[in-house]
Amino acid sequence: MEPLQELFGLRGKVALVTGASSGLGVEFARALATAGADVAILARRQDRLKAVAQEIEALGVRCLPVTADVTDEAQLDRALAEIEKALGTVDILVNNAGIAPAARAEKHGRKEWEQALSVNLTAVFLLSQRVARAMIARGKGGRIINISSVMGELGNPVFPTVSYNATKGAVTTLTRHLAVEWAQHRITVNAIAPGWFPSEMTIDPKLGDVAPRFKEKMESRTPLGRLGDPRELAGAVIFLASPAASYVTGAVLAVDGGWSAW
Ligand SMILES: NC(=O)c1ccc[n+]([C@@H]2O[C@H](COP(=O)([O-])OP(=O)(O)OC[C@H]3O[C@@H](n4cnc5c(N)ncnc54)[C@H](OP(=O)(O)O)[C@@H]3O)[C@@H](O)[C@H]2O)c1
Repeated sequence: MEPLQELFGLRGKVALVTGASSGLGVEFARALATAGADVAILARRQDRLKAVAQEIEALGVRCLPVTADVTDEAQLDRALAEIEKALGTVDILVNNAGIAPAARAEKHGRKEWEQALSVNLTAVFLLSQRVARAMIARGKGGRIINISSVMGELGNPVFPTVSYNATKGAVTTLTRHLAVEWAQHRITVNAIAPGWFPSEMTIDPKLGDVAPRFKEKMESRTPLGRLGDPRELAGAVIFLASPAASYVTGAVLAVDGGWSAW
């Protein structure tokens, strides 16, 4: 095998990426496929998943679109059974699905708070738990990669997203805790903390871009002076999923243009 393949190749592995119907999740799925993994992509919008799956299969791997809501345990069980049957046991789980309800803290509704908790935190735990049980039973270890955010460590000066920030902080701690508990099973648990990237979460649909007044704030506080390109997250996810990261666990890898460096 080529030395680079030995370090970063994922041929023969099965990855599951949640929230891969748009945005960063599509990029994570594409990156893992580029490294050779078969990929299951899970979200609620079936038409979007089908289009992404076609694009990923063109990379020469198998890609299974699975329609499910991550907050529904029965749907998670059905999804995992479908993936097991079609692709095999999940070796790499990327918990990426997320929402960011925006409303000032003093007006933030309980409903929005509960939704953020449910999608961004509880679903990450419930899916990790299910996937880890199968990994433990199989005895070959595995990789869990949680998509947290720089907002998991800091307040947000751009958007009023109190529930989002609170849940991402919890995802970061959940990552470290699971890393400690599951190390004995050779399951590594790490997080990626992206800074600012254009996606449905940050773009104003009327403008088709991040609104200039927000973009200016994002860029002016980012040492590299610009938003990230989603493709700039590919290396981080491949690394954490790959043999090269076998001794990395409980880490939170910022990909943020330096946002969290000061
Ligand atoms: N964009 C950024 O600047 C940024 C920065 C830091 C962290 N992040 C994180 O990156 C991740 C992806 O966000 P994004 O920016 O790519 O936003 P996005 O384009 O809005 O993607 C969110 C994804 O989550 C899925 N999703 C939402 N609720 C779901 C549910 N109940 N069940 C299943 N899937 C669900 C959506 O698919 P369906 O609607 O089809 O279900 C969609 O695919 C999130 O965890 C976010 O917190 C983003």
